[in-house]
Formats: sequence, structure tokens, C-alpha cells
Amino acid sequence: MNIISTKDYQEMSRKACELVAETINTIEKPILGLATGSTPEGLYQCLINKHKEEQLSFRHVTTFNLDEYVGLGSENPNSYRYFMNGKLFQHIDIRKENTYVPNGSAENLEEECVSYEELIREHGGMDLQILGIGLNGHIGFNEPGTPFTSRTHIVELDESTRQANARFFDSLEEVPTHAITTGIGTIMESKKILLLISGENKADTVTRLVNGDISEDFPASILKEHPNVTIIADEAALSKL
Ligand code: PGA
Repeated sequence: MNIISTKDYQEMSRKACELVAETINTIEKPILGLATGSTPEGLYQCLINKHKEEQLSFRHVTTFNLDEYVGLGSENPNSYRYFMNGKLFQHIDIRKENTYVPNGSAENLEEECVSYEELIREHGGMDLQILGIGLNGHIGFNEPGTPFTSRTHIVELDESTRQANARFFDSLEEVPTHAITTGIGTIMESKKILLLISGENKADTVTRLVNGDISEDFPASILKEHPNVTIIADEAALSKL
């Protein structure tokens, strides 16, 4: 894993933005894996700015999001589809039909998982997968204990994850208990992975990622076996290394 250290969140976002823009500009039909959460928001804002000010075009880009809450439809402001529309897709020239997010309100969730995985396969997998990391080492919503071979599946969210995400909801009770997530096996097939980490509260997580063993107890640890992972982390996140 190649680690790039940045002064702060803004610089992390800018550097990530350069790498994503390079992928968009150099691959004929790029397939991007996208993440939600607080961490990639600065990256998305930077991509919007590049679109508006430097004519970066997304007409040829296809995106697959990592995950979605079960039970939240696209009109729910806490759904990840809503997040992606508002934070990125509405502000760029991407074709809406080329933006995929798992459907958390599908009638048959098992079928939704199978068809989402199939769709990713049909597109040949991700050229570049953007990841954040949970305090417990989760990637996507693959919580500790998830098999490294997993494919798109339904997960029961860890209590720690629900608590960490409660800040976006009116109360902890409103945070869904389940989600659809692409699997660790799916993520590991990405040609290139870009992991963004910011803030002092992630310092222990980064230390465990870098110094700890590869174990299903800490899902992100498998990234050490991927041939092309770049971590961009700010000084606060790297402060305990
Ligand atoms: P965050 O979430 O970016 O909001 O910290 C990361 C994650 O849980 O994967």
C-alpha cells in the first residue's frame, strides 16, 4: 500500500480529485466505484469544480456505489442514492442511467444483490474504487467477520456503525439496521483502489490497518494483498503511526 500524507482534509480531497480526474481523462469508458460518508464529500466538490471550471466531462463515465441502507428509497435524504445525486451527480454531466446504487427498497433484496453483482461483472469491474474506512475497519458496509470472498450481500450493521452514522439522522432508532453492500471479493477485483482517511478519530484505525495482521476481524486489512492501493490520509489520521 502506497501512503500519501497530506496536511489536512482539503489537501487530501484535492489529491484524490487529481487521481480521479486522471482516470476519467485517460480511460475510454472508465468505471468508478464510489463511496458515501463524510470523507469523500470534499473530493466530490472538487470534481464538481473541475467540471464547471476546467470542463472535466463525465459523459463517458459509469459509476457503482458501494452500498445502500435497506428500507430507504431514493427520495429519503438519508439514502445514499439521494446523497450521491445531491453531492455529485446533479452537478456534473454524467448520464443518470450510468450511475448505479444498490436499491435498498427492492422488493426482493436477495435478487437485488445478485443482479447488482452481475451488473458490475458485465461492466468488467472497477477501474478505480474510492473507499472510506469505518472506525472498526469496515469497507463498504462489510463489517468485521465478513468473509474476504464475499460478494454483494445484505449485512446487519454493527452497533458502532449505527452510532457513528446516527449524526445524519434525528435519532439512533432511525438508523437502519441493515444495508446492501458490495462484497470484499467485489472490491478486491478493482484494478486500482484509493482509500481516503481523515481526522484524529481515525488514527487508531490507520495504525491497525498499517501495523496489524490481515484478518477478517478487520476487513480493510485485506487491502494489503491488493497490488494497487493508494491511501491518501491527512496528518491527523496518521498521527499515531
Ligand atoms: P465516514 O465513513 O467517511 O463518514 O467517516 C466512512 C465509512 O464508514 O466507511
